[in-house]
Amino acid sequence: MLDAAAILNRHGAQVPRYTSYPAAPHFGAETGRALLPAMIDCIDPEKPVSVYLHIPFCDRLCWFCGCHTKQTRRYQPVVDYVDSLLAEIATMRARIGFAPKVAALHLGGGSPSLLQSAEFARIGEALRKAFVFPADAEISVEIDPSDVSADTLEGLALLGMTRASIGVQDFDPAVQAAINRPQTFEATRDVIAALRAAGQCSINIDALYGLPLQTPERLERTIDQVISLDPERVALFGYAHVPWAKKHQTMIREEDLPGREQRLGDAARASAKLTGAGYAAIGIDHFARPGDPLAEAARTGRLHRNFQGYTTDACETLIGFGASAISRFRGGYVQNIVPTATYRQAVDSGALAAQRGYRLTRDDVIRGYMIERLMCDFRIDFAALAHGFGEVAGAPYVRECLRLAAGDRDGLVVSDEQSFAIRPEAKPFARVVASWFDAHLDGGEGRYSKAV
Ligand SMILES: C[S@@+](CC[C@H](N)C(=O)[O-])C[C@H]1O[C@@H](n2cnc3c(N)ncnc32)[C@H](O)[C@@H]1O
Ligand code: SF4
Repeated sequence: MLDAAAILNRHGAQVPRYTSYPAAPHFGAETGRALLPAMIDCIDPEKPVSVYLHIPFCDRLCWFCGCHTKQTRRYQPVVDYVDSLLAEIATMRARIGFAPKVAALHLGGGSPSLLQSAEFARIGEALRKAFVFPADAEISVEIDPSDVSADTLEGLALLGMTRASIGVQDFDPAVQAAINRPQTFEATRDVIAALRAAGQCSINIDALYGLPLQTPERLERTIDQVISLDPERVALFGYAHVPWAKKHQTMIREEDLPGREQRLGDAARASAKLTGAGYAAIGIDHFARPGDPLAEAARTGRLHRNFQGYTTDACETLIGFGASAISRFRGGYVQNIVPTATYRQAVDSGALAAQRGYRLTRDDVIRGYMIERLMCDFRIDFAALAHGFGEVAGAPYVRECLRLAAGDRDGLVVSDEQSFAIRPEAKPFARVVASWFDAHLDGGEGRYSKAV
């Protein structure tokens, strides 16, 4: 049995989620604008890219929410924002100089589902003018079921959505009251049925553990209800309570939050329920039906991790549009201006909206690869490391693995000549082990959510 308290006390309880390396708090102010032109010039015309669009609006404000979004009661600000997005897409296309092929498009937020069909149509048209969309491009959209009307379904069909990612969180009314997110099982079921009836789209459901007033029984009932909806994928995230960064989270009573032990137990029980129902466990918090491409990627070592979590998307370049969106290029990361009004001013004047950024060193690229493999496969294969970066360049990192394994007093990892691996029972601590390889962690207390 691992001693969770001792492990977290010893290694630090707050670590990044490693959806990028370095994590976004390490991007430098001002570096982004300086970096962007050279980064764009590095886009390889022969390789497909992925595209992310951020919609920072919701028609409700859930108290648990950690996303960059704002509640709006009027639709005009959304229309105006879409105007700015289209301007940014056109400027970026002109700057790139050719129309890149898109492997994957993701609309996230906020709630892209609050867009009306006219806005989905305008966005789809602008993207198809700027990029080439092959027939097999993956087009996914984050959906708050409380938004979905016949007009939304029409808009999603115009966009060509292939995957709907549905926010559920928890179906229990007491938990929903504590997070200000009423949402019945029946309404969610009907939206999923309507999305399925409208076309070829696969369904992902987001659920959370660690929410206020959540008991093991309440969470298990929610997971049973999620399973009964038969989604192709489930994401089971731990609630990240960061009230210093998200003021509305102060509406959640700290005394209602489950403790560390309950969080660990809840995650394990929910995970066992999902695998018991036939889902394959993917990385630290995803589940997929065995035939799903995500499960196939995990089985064959081709799983990746990006800002949306686990993905089959292997593109080197991710172009992010919208306030706060992050782009990833071969040589580094660039994040757009975060406040929506300032973002709009920049792109409406014909500029790009780069703000912060980070230029990757060779050391970052190798550590980023190792951290991604740990988060995806729970294992770093030394032969693959040498194949990717060369025997000589990889050698110091292999030595670092062996040194870390030798110093591991908690029984989290094993290492030999072939690999460095997280023990199966230590998988909940994958973020902690990944953080051992993070050369940028400087005890930046308070910036990250709890590791477990
Ligand atoms: C942009 S929202 C999903 C779409 C839509 N806005 C909705 O709420 O249904 C993305 C997901 O992030 C997760 N999320 C949001 N805040 C979180 C937090 N503080 N900790 C962990 N996960 C969080 C939720 O599971 C949520 O479904
Ligand atoms: S959870 Fe979704 S609907 Fe709720 S505030 Fe966050 S982004 Fe908006």
